[in-house]
Amino acid sequence: MRKTTISLIKCDVGSLAGHHVVPEPLLNIAEKNLRKARENELINSYHIFNVGDDLQLLMVHGRGESNPEIHKLAWNTFQEAAKKALELKLYGAGQDLLKTAFSGNVRGMGPGVAEMEIEERGSDPIVVFAADKTSAGAFNLPLFRIFVDPMNTAGLVIDPDMAGGFKFEVLDTMENKSVVLKCPEEMYELIGLTGTVGRYMVSRVWRARDDLICAVGSVTKLSKIAGKYVGKDDPVLIVRAQHGLPALGEILVPFMHSYLVAGWMRGSHWGPVMPVGVKDAKCTVFDGPPRIVALGLQISNGKIASDDDGKPMVADLFDDPAFDLAKREAMEYASMLRRMGEFEPARLGIEEMEYTTLPQLLRRLEERFKPF
Ligand code: F6R
Ligand code: MG
Ligand code: MG
Repeated sequence: MRKTTISLIKCDVGSLAGHHVVPEPLLNIAEKNLRKARENELINSYHIFNVGDDLQLLMVHGRGESNPEIHKLAWNTFQEAAKKALELKLYGAGQDLLKTAFSGNVRGMGPGVAEMEIEERGSDPIVVFAADKTSAGAFNLPLFRIFVDPMNTAGLVIDPDMAGGFKFEVLDTMENKSVVLKCPEEMYELIGLTGTVGRYMVSRVWRARDDLICAVGSVTKLSKIAGKYVGKDDPVLIVRAQHGLPALGEILVPFMHSYLVAGWMRGSHWGPVMPVGVKDAKCTVFDGPPRIVALGLQISNGKIASDDDGKPMVADLFDDPAFDLAKREAMEYASMLRRMGEFEPARLGIEEMEYTTLPQLLRRLEERFKPF
């Protein structure tokens, strides 16, 4: 069976009007470089988009995961776009490029990565999620719903091909170790860990009966790489759909309602996730609310299935009135939370605030504390 790799590599290299949106000139650089890489047959297909201030490179190729040439292509593209951002004096130019010497893999250098090598099935529908102003833990809840919750995914009950359940690789981002949990048997343990969204993050999901790869998420902790606050880790997630896996609609139904995620203004607040079409994937109110987009595509003979002009066909799945309710809920939760200003639980708890700029400020008070 043909092996095809989907690589989604993203980076905040600078944005327009604060941490708001990636402007055209930076998208054009990505377009130019990836077009050239396709002409040179390094990659077979690509799609460039942005979610808020994050430049997203979706590449389909036959070179496997963690391929140095693919990572170098992404790294060079981000470097070039950051240079342009600097020339234009855009905001946060090169924000996520935390290291200089490229050593074959962008992991640990700032950009976020989700890569999935698949053996192409008869037909392989894929959903790509990307979010801004939050972190990978934002996907813990929907991943639970999609792959474990029979009240969400009818196929868990009805489709015999899903009967054995799914396995989750959960990363402990504090201790840098991972564990694999098998659901439904270990669903309470899965919730026990991944309910702590700031620490435990789902990195991979497999179908238990045959270890078919089903989902891969990016799980970077920028603050751990940089040793200080440099914005949130704005995550991406690739999910495979249909024919013995959750259907497209079962993958999307968790986003019928908004829910709270960590991030938003200064990476320091709980905020409601807002599912939007790409045209609305730009952060405004209190640098948010955290936006999420979902793109649907088909992997076909090593490429993204394309139209008659050779253009990859990509569906903008949240650009749909079916998600209007979630958008409305997001603004209702947003207004409720903002009324609480800087008081918990609107602001993140003390542990997460460790990685922001607040501790520096409070250090100034240290000497003024007297025994009580
Ligand atoms: C959150 C984010 C923004 C910034 C905020 C302050 O991930 O990127 O909310 O934290 O706009 O940015 P600076 O410190 O660059 O002025
Ligand atoms: Mg930014
Ligand atoms: Mg961002």
